[in-house]
Formats: sequence, structure tokens, C-alpha cells
Amino acid sequence: MFLFIFFIPYLNLAQKISPIIPTPQKYNEIEGFISIEKFVFFNDDDIPENISQFFSYELNKHYNILKKEDKVIPTILFIKKSLSDDSTAINLPKDFYSISVNDHIEVKYTSDASCFYAVNSLLQLIEGETGKWFIKKCQVIDSPKFQWRGLHLDVSRHFFSVDEIKKFIQLMSYYKFNTFHWHLTDDQGWRIEIKKYPELTKIGAYRDSTIEGHYSKKPRSYTIEKYGGFYTQDEIKEVVSYAQSRYINIVPEIEMPGHSRSALAAYPQFSCNGLKKPVPGLWGIFEDIYCSKEESILFIQDILKEVIDLFPFEYIHIGGDEAPKKRWNSCSSCQKVIIDNDLENEEELQSYFIKRMDDFLMKKGKKLIGWDEILEGGLSANATVMSWRGDKGGKEAASQGHYVVMSPNTHCYFDYYQSSHFSEPLAIGGYLPLEKVYNFNPIPKGMNEIDAKYILGGQANIWTEYITSIDQVEYMAYPRSLALIQNLWCNIKPSFDDFLYVYLNKHQEYLNKHDVNYSNSIHIPKLNISRKKKWY
Ligand code: ACM
Ligand code: ZN
Repeated sequence: MFLFIFFIPYLNLAQKISPIIPTPQKYNEIEGFISIEKFVFFNDDDIPENISQFFSYELNKHYNILKKEDKVIPTILFIKKSLSDDSTAINLPKDFYSISVNDHIEVKYTSDASCFYAVNSLLQLIEGETGKWFIKKCQVIDSPKFQWRGLHLDVSRHFFSVDEIKKFIQLMSYYKFNTFHWHLTDDQGWRIEIKKYPELTKIGAYRDSTIEGHYSKKPRSYTIEKYGGFYTQDEIKEVVSYAQSRYINIVPEIEMPGHSRSALAAYPQFSCNGLKKPVPGLWGIFEDIYCSKEESILFIQDILKEVIDLFPFEYIHIGGDEAPKKRWNSCSSCQKVIIDNDLENEEELQSYFIKRMDDFLMKKGKKLIGWDEILEGGLSANATVMSWRGDKGGKEAASQGHYVVMSPNTHCYFDYYQSSHFSEPLAIGGYLPLEKVYNFNPIPKGMNEIDAKYILGGQANIWTEYITSIDQVEYMAYPRSLALIQNLWCNIKPSFDDFLYVYLNKHQEYLNKHDVNYSNSIHIPKLNISRKKKWY
């Protein structure tokens, strides 16, 4: 047997494509460059103070460029424009900005967020070396395609500090993501302080053991060590405020009725059988879930009350996934709720449960979003669906006139392996290489235009059963997040080869500058292996 191995080259391109990721809607390069060397002056009275501070900080830290204070002609001139531009009578898209680099740099922006996007694009246009920085003369015209550009992080299975979360958010914002889905509660740990129910964090935030290796490996073994942590409400406020300064909305997730073992370890009276069980150190799906009796519903609504006060974004995620109905089936309280409310079965009971939360959130001026299982038994009137089991749930919800965020496990589960190389750290399974993420389209194939209007955007999820440190989170998230944002931002996205060229030639260095532990799996050569009977 003979093996013929061909290495597929990917570095043979030298096209003038935008160095900015996500690729702007328009990028035109012209002859020449403007030197910015050691000093710039920009009119910071005309941009929000947090953006001015961010811009000065980034220029100084990564390029050693200082903002000059004297009132000379600005190197960079910022101009705020209204969405309906009087001079052209053209309505500009939401969060539109433009950058014109010629003898000086002119940035026009239409919202605070778009000013921030423009500044991040500008930073990505800088080339050269210390003391000899320059920007090529060019024109950038840009605005986002989708309004929901998200990354999710599970802090229950493994916990990450406030500083680590801030770094995660910061990285998102460099690449124009705008939604951080903070998965704050799950079976293996409750991570948010709730003042009315202190045992949620005193008991629910800690487990006594954690399974070792993959959970499918038998016999199972455990590290016997207390593991956990939680965010105080002051810390949550600090993260929310930080995210706001980076134009990132935070969607908190409070899981129900399933994935609730950590809460029930602290308050077993809100389960069906009232039995006290510990916070589990094993991954998977558990049969013990919240009971649907009134006391449990009021308990959760009390929790949501505090959550609502902490998070200004309009959406609250209530989970809704993977809730086995076995306990409800044999619980007299749950069966009574079914009878009293004229429900058919336990699926309709779940729908009733979610509807109670939907009504509660609506009254508080919030919107409910949940995983696609909330379709089962009938979707609640105002619910938005996060489609994770492929695109089926998203299609169904959109056809019913509900908003949808697409996060299919086929293209958006960043806890999956990104190469088949043996050096990859242990992961849950699956296979999601960079190119597959690049081929994701939030609008499912064959969806009609009317339904497509209900697709708010997309999101990747980072479940952390097998991800134990923030370095590993970054390894799983980058560069795949860059491939993802291309699908959420660009109307016309370049070819994968062009994207790869820009990534390898520009953004690896950029990620190095920002101390990101990105994966190098893309450098593992693709092997094209064939067997020939005769090779001579
Ligand atoms: C999920 O992955 N269980 C939403
Ligand atoms: Zn019950």
C-alpha cells in the first residue's frame, strides 16, 4: 500500500481585499498611505467619552501612538451624521459608518455603536511597525447585516472570573459582536447572587466532585474537590457596565424547568418529590427538574425579578431545553396543574410553565427567549426561539411569526472539535472546522423572504463541560468566531480562501497583540490520501 499525500496550499493569494474582519460592505484601496507614526490628534469632543478613552488606550498600548492635545487640524476627524442624510436624502442603514483615508482620515458615524465599530475598523487598518505606523488610503462603507451577533458562554460547568469575562467581552467587541449570552445557571453550579434566596449561591454554587475525562468513558472516576464560585450582584453590575462601554448587550440565562439541579440542591421543596440531592459533578441530563406547582413558579419569578433589575437588555433567556417529564408524570401537584388548566399532557404543561414566565416578563417590559424545545406543546405568544437542534425549530418558529436566533449545533457549537488531530484537547465530540463555520448561513436553505425577516441573527455556543480555563475558551472560540462574524455582519462575504488569507496575514498578529490563545488547528495540513495499486 502506498500513500500519496498532497498538502493543499492556502497562502498563495495576494489580493487587495479588506484587512478588516468582519469584511466591510465596501472597501476600496487607492494609491498611497497616511503616516501616523507616534502622534495623532482626533476631535474627541465629537465622540462619546468611553470611545475616546478606548481609542486612545488601544493606540497607546498596542502601537505606542499618543493622542496629541494641541488644537491643530485633526489627523482623524469624527463627524456624527443622522440616519437620513440631508445632503443626499438617502436613508442610511442602522449603525452605518464610513471611513475615508486620504490626506487626513474622516470618520462619519450614525450611532454611538457605529462610532465604536468605526474605531475598531480603524485600528485594524493600521500597518507597519513601532514608530512607522501608517494606514493605506482607502474608503470604507459599512453597516451590519444582522442585529443579533452573539457568543454564549457556559459559566456553570466551569467558572470564569469577572476579569476573564471582561476579556471575553472585549475580544467580542473588537470583532463587532454585540450580544453576550451569559449561561449563568445549570445543574452543576448556580452562578448569580439572588438576595432573596441566599442558599442558591451558598449551596448551589459549589459541587463536591467533578467527573474526570469524557462522561461516556466507563467506569467513571471523579476528582473529589470542592469546585465553584459565583458573581455577586455588584460584580454583575460591573460586567454589565463594562459590556455597555463596548456596545455589547448581555442576555442572562436562568435555566428552567430542567438543568436546575443546583437550585434544587439549595431549595428541594421546589422539585416534585422534595428530596434533597447534591449539586452533581457529572455531566448530562437529569430527571429532577422544577415542579410546575404555583410555589415553584413564584420562586422562579422572584429570581427573575432580581435578574431583570440587573440586566438592562430587553431579552431574558429562560433555557427550556432538555427537561425530562418523568417527575411531572408521577407528581400529584403537576397532574393537578394539568387538570386545572385543561392541558393535554406534560408537553403542554411545559408550554404552560413557559407561558407563565412569558406573561411575567412581558409585564416587566422584557422579552422571553428560550431554546427550541419551547416550541413543544405550543409556543408562548411573545417568545423568541433560539434554534440549536439544527434549523428545524428556527424554521417552525419563523413560520409562526416568532423571532428566531439561529444557533444550530451543525455550525455554531464551539465546544466541538475543530480538527481531527490527536493534539486537540478533550472535547464533547462533534467536528466543526473553521471552513464549516464560514459556510454557516443564519437564513436556513429554502426559507421564504417573509419568514427570513424573523431571523434576528446567529450565535455560537461555548458549553464548558470539557473547557476548564479561559485559555481553553479562547482556543475553542478563535479563530472560529471570526468565521462566524463574517456570516452575521457581511452582506457579501469573500471566499473562504480570501478570508483565510486576511486572517493568517493580518489577524493572527492582531490576536497576538491582544493576548488571545487562538487555535492553530488551521495549520494542520489537510491530507488528501489516496491508495493506488500501481504507483510506477
Ligand atoms: C443545548 O445545547 N442543550 C441548548
Ligand atoms: Zn411536580
